[in-house]
Amino acid sequence: MALDDLTLTRKEGFAAFAEAPEHPRPPDLTITEVKGMKDEAADKHNRWRRSYLSNLRPIRTDQAKALVEDLADVFEAGLDQPNWEAKGMAAVDAFPGLGKTTVGLSFAKKVHNDLIRENGRFTTAGQERWPVIRVGMRGDTRVKDFNWALLEFFAHAGQRSGTANSFLARALDCAISCESRLLLVDDVHFLKFRSARGTELANEFKTIANEFPLMILFIGYDLEKKGLYDDPQLGRRITPLGLAPFTIDHEAGRMQWRNFLLSLEQRLVLAGKWEGMLADDLSDYLYARCTGHIGSLMQLIRRGCLRAIRNGDECITEALMADVTLDREAAEQRAQWEALLASGKKTSKPRRRARRET
Ligand SMILES: Nc1ncnc2c1ncn2[C@@H]1O[C@H](COP(=O)(O)OP(=O)(O)OP(=O)(O)O)[C@@H](O)[C@H]1O
Ligand SMILES: [Mg+2]
Repeated sequence: MALDDLTLTRKEGFAAFAEAPEHPRPPDLTITEVKGMKDEAADKHNRWRRSYLSNLRPIRTDQAKALVEDLADVFEAGLDQPNWEAKGMAAVDAFPGLGKTTVGLSFAKKVHNDLIRENGRFTTAGQERWPVIRVGMRGDTRVKDFNWALLEFFAHAGQRSGTANSFLARALDCAISCESRLLLVDDVHFLKFRSARGTELANEFKTIANEFPLMILFIGYDLEKKGLYDDPQLGRRITPLGLAPFTIDHEAGRMQWRNFLLSLEQRLVLAGKWEGMLADDLSDYLYARCTGHIGSLMQLIRRGCLRAIRNGDECITEALMADVTLDREAAEQRAQWEALLASGKKTSKPRRRARRET
């Protein structure tokens, strides 16, 4: 089932995302079955495969698992803290396309579902429970815009007029009455903390951490350079966290890469696929093409699968992938990695074969 058009800037959209059932997997057919389908049935099957591919459940990579553990530490430590103590803050800072938003949202999804399951959909005072608030930043966000976005998330009637402070006071009322416990602020790199406006925002975040009963999770890249930690109090309170690309310099890293490819190939619904199609036969090739960046790799795999479905190959090979173009950054680094891997100086394959995981 596809998500509707609600966006994550509103609580209803966030709930739709967090509570959506897993996208059903299309049936695994044989090549003969696929080729024997009538046009209409084939169209339906292929549309299903396309939407399934766009809604793949995130793969629990080792990097993602470690990050979620760290987030849970900060979050759980704040849950039973007295109200007058400032709650924890964490910042996930990593290059674009490494899965920050994906991991942040899946953590937020878990918080939403866990707290509703444990405490009910309504608070004891009879208000709807909204464990998570999510705000996305834009280049020109000021304190008032940010506070407005908090109210927008709650679709609060009082968002039409007021001062920055009155917006914040209303947002605080919402967060308290809806028992919100996590504020996710994505794309924080858009903010220029080293400007008058940025200092105001930094101060506003401190106020929120002091007054609101929730953990703030910042997500962005280059946050240190952008000045997020310039303020001594923020520097002390924010736990900096990262998300690394896959690396193949060590055996452990190569094992992680292989495990990831094994999980990924199990998710693919292609009639002609075989065990090891990605993990054995394309390991080096895929690494060179994405240089360990999950975002580029997922893009490549999605495009490759759609092409394999369209042209009837029903499997992924180097020849098919050769025609799939990718983002500029990945294309730039590709030649260097291809040379290294071809020369035998590097390999992406572990010496010991990892077991297939389910
Ligand atoms: N664990 C995962 N499993 C499967 N796909 C993933 C995973 N992590 C990320 N992806 C895919 O990689 C792409 C980039 O991820 P995401 O948008 O989360 O990155 P980001 O670090 O937030 O990037 P940006 O800095 O550009 O916002 C997405 O298409 C996402 O579906
Ligand atoms: Mg992102």
